[in-house]
Amino acid sequence: MLTNSLVELDRQHLVHPVSSFEGHEARGVRVLTSAKGARIRDAEGRELIDGFAGLWCVNAGYGHESVVEAAAKQMRELPYATGYFDLGAEAPIRLAAELADRAPGDLDHVYFTLGGSDAVDSAIRYIRYYWHAKGKPTRDQFISIEQGYHGSTTMGAGLTALPVFHEGFGVPYEWQHKISSHYVYRNPLGDDPQAIIDASVAELRAKIVQLGEDRVAAFFAEPIQGSGGVLVPPKGWIKSMRGVCAEYGILFVADEVITGFGRTGPIFACTDEDIVPDLMTTAKGLTSGYAPMGAVFLSDKVYQTIAQGAGAKAIGHGFTYSAHPVSAAVALAVLKLYEGGLFERGLEAGKRLQSGLQTLRDHPLVGDVRGRGMLAAVELVVDKDRKTPLPVSVQPATRLFDRAWEQGLVVRSFAQGIFGYAPPLCCTDEEIDEIVARTRKVLDLTLDDPEIIEALR
Ligand SMILES: Cc1ncc(COP(=O)(O)O)c(C=O)c1O
Repeated sequence: MLTNSLVELDRQHLVHPVSSFEGHEARGVRVLTSAKGARIRDAEGRELIDGFAGLWCVNAGYGHESVVEAAAKQMRELPYATGYFDLGAEAPIRLAAELADRAPGDLDHVYFTLGGSDAVDSAIRYIRYYWHAKGKPTRDQFISIEQGYHGSTTMGAGLTALPVFHEGFGVPYEWQHKISSHYVYRNPLGDDPQAIIDASVAELRAKIVQLGEDRVAAFFAEPIQGSGGVLVPPKGWIKSMRGVCAEYGILFVADEVITGFGRTGPIFACTDEDIVPDLMTTAKGLTSGYAPMGAVFLSDKVYQTIAQGAGAKAIGHGFTYSAHPVSAAVALAVLKLYEGGLFERGLEAGKRLQSGLQTLRDHPLVGDVRGRGMLAAVELVVDKDRKTPLPVSVQPATRLFDRAWEQGLVVRSFAQGIFGYAPPLCCTDEEIDEIVARTRKVLDLTLDDPEIIEALR
C-alpha cells in the first residue's frame, strides 16, 4: 500500500534524471529501501546484487558504520562552514592535503564541488581563466571525444558526445569540438592497438591545426569512456594523447569521475600509464556515494598562473557548498576504508570479474567483453561476424535492465545493448560469480525472447 502511494507520488511530483518523463510515468518508480555490502533491497522485499554500485559510485559498498559516524560527528560539531571570506573547516583542509599527496605529479591543489558535472564545469572555468591570465584569451576552443561523457551542466553537456544530452538543449557550443573515439570493438581500422593510437594522435593533431594552434585551450579525455559503453583504449593511448597536448602546449584534462578511487585498480587510472594531467576531475568514489562531492585537481603550474594573473582580485568562481565539511568528513572516512583493505579487495575481485565475464564470449548474443578492474562491459549483438547490434525497436536498454532485475542483478543497460558493470570493490568471490551466472541467465532468457528471435532471423 505504502509502495503504491509512493509510486503515485513519484509519478506526480518527482522529476527523474535522464529519463523519458512519459516512459517513467508509464513504468513507475522502483523504490529502493536498504542496502548492505554489495546488496540492495527494494520495497517489494527483493534482494539484488548491485553490479553497478548505484551509478558507478558506491565503490566502498553499502552500510559502513565508520562513514555514518564520521558524517554524524561532523554534523553534530559543525554541519556547515563556508569557504568564502577566507573561512574553512578542518575536514576539507585535511582531505585536500590527503588527496594531493596521492595524486600524480604536481596536482597539488584541490577545488571541491558537489559532484562530477560541476567539477568538469569548474575545470572549464579555471582553464578559461588560466589562458586569460597567460595573456592568451583567444585560446578558447575545447576538444573532447565522441562517445565521451563529461556531465550534464550546460558546458559539460557540450563536451559530452552523446546525442541525448544535446538534443533540445542547444549544445554543444561552437567552441566545443570532437575527435573520434578509440572504440576498439567497432573501430573501422580494426583492433590493432598501434593503428588505433596512431589514428587518434593524427586526428587530434589535425583538429588542433584546423582550429589553429594558438586557439586550443584544452583536451578532455576519460581514461576509460564510461557512459559511452565502457570503451577501453589500447594501452599507450592516453599517454600518446597526453604527449600531443604537451607538444602543442594544450592543457590535458583527465576526467576520472568514474575511473578514480580504485574502480580500475589504482586510486587514479591515469597512474596506470604514468601520466600527469594538467587538471583532473573526480567525484563518485571520492565519497562512495554516501554524500555528494566532486573535486578538480589543478597542477601547480595552472594554480600559480591563475594566482599571479588574478593578483589581489577575487577569482569569481564558487558555490555555497564548495568543500562541504560533512562530505569531506565522509570522504576521509571512505579513504580510510579504501586503504584499509578495500583497494586490495577490489584488485582481487576485479581479476575475478574480468575472467568470469570473458567466459560469456561463447554465448551466441555476446559480441565483445572488455574492461579493467571493477569496470567492465558485455556488448550484445545479433550477428557476431557482422557485429550487428540489437535493433533499437526491441528497446534493449529497458528490456535487458528489467530482465536482469528479475534475476536479482542490477547492471547498467546501455541503449545499444551493452551491459555495464561497476560493482562495489567489497564484492565477495561468490557475489562476483553470481554476477556472471545471473548475466548468463539473462542472456539465455533474451535468446528465448520472441522479438529477439525475430531480430536474429
Ligand atoms: C566521466 C564523467 N564525468 C562527469 C560526470 C558527471 O558526474 P555527476 O553525475 O556526478 O555530475 C560523470 C558521471 O557519470 C562521468 O562519468
